[in-house]
Amino acid sequence: MRQAGRYLPEYRALRAQASGFVEFCLNPVLASEATLQPVRRFGMDAAILFADILLVPYALGQKVEFGEDGPILEPIMEGAGIATLSRSGFSGLDPVYETVRRCRAGLPVETALIGFAGAPWTVATYMVEGGASRDFRRVKAWAYRDPLGFAALIELIVDATVAYLSGQIRAGADAVQLFDSWAGILSEAGFERWVIEPTRCIAARLKQQFPTVPVIGFPRGAGLFYERYVAETGIDAVGIDTVVSGAFARERLQGRVAVQGNLDPVALLVGGAVMEQEVRAIRGVFGGGPFIFNLGHGVLPQTPPENVTALARLLAEPVDIP
Ligand code: CP3
Repeated sequence: MRQAGRYLPEYRALRAQASGFVEFCLNPVLASEATLQPVRRFGMDAAILFADILLVPYALGQKVEFGEDGPILEPIMEGAGIATLSRSGFSGLDPVYETVRRCRAGLPVETALIGFAGAPWTVATYMVEGGASRDFRRVKAWAYRDPLGFAALIELIVDATVAYLSGQIRAGADAVQLFDSWAGILSEAGFERWVIEPTRCIAARLKQQFPTVPVIGFPRGAGLFYERYVAETGIDAVGIDTVVSGAFARERLQGRVAVQGNLDPVALLVGGAVMEQEVRAIRGVFGGGPFIFNLGHGVLPQTPPENVTALARLLAEPVDIP
């Protein structure tokens, strides 16, 4: 999950050095520093590349801006909109590969560097809605009305994502994660077609080139569909959101793949005994199998950094596995 960001004063100072957020992400000096900041302060076992899932639409030629209330894109229109996207502008993301090289060089050898991209469905929601959405009616209506036309958009994003993640791996990423933040808004048939299928395709194409590089999937909000996601996509590890039941994930997911999660970011914000109790419960459930401790979603901007220090200290203590 996001571990850099506005909750850190050193991040806010760094951010002030760039004009826009896209410029910030595409500046290897600033972006590599933003990646290393939380690792330096808290000593995490892994760094996540500082970038954004919306760099892919940007590289495809869509106008992308980050305002006070989140991202704003010029929406891709149902049908003809795909023709406005370019397949040739992908060198625009070369600075991200330079960021990866700098991060890898700046991290201790034992600290993993995780590269990432948005999963095609989630990226498509931003491209079609033009930003955040309450009901996702434009993107869902397109997928229902014209599945072949919408599939062309998804395929374009699949190709771009494979190229982008391959570039990150070649530059030194040790693992890659696919963020499907809006996987939880689809029916089962939609989930199969727009979440499972593109994820399976990306994982297979990456495995062909880089058989030993783990692929982590995060289908946020997928609920009971987590089980099919894990069984059918070919990913190596699954990020679970805060709402996923520990017993369910241990019994139905952890036997197949590593589980990553799932402390509530609000429990981290509250800190103290509340956080300690949640952490103890999570480690108790998952500590006996393949497990990566993480949050269920990104660190909230209002989180006191001292709470993250306390969390890191807590996790350095040995686990009691029942
Ligand atoms: O710790 C890190 O280095 C993580 C880097 C990272 C960012 N975005 C940087 C960022 C990662 C992994 C992302 C993923 C991302 N971006 C997702 C998937 C994960 C999730 O949170 O669901 C999504 C949906 C986006 C799109 C996006 N980017 C939104 C909706 C926003 C605005 C919301 C917000 O928190 O402001 C962003 C901006 C953004 N991307 C910020 C950061 C640190 C905040 C902007 C800032 O602090 O200047």
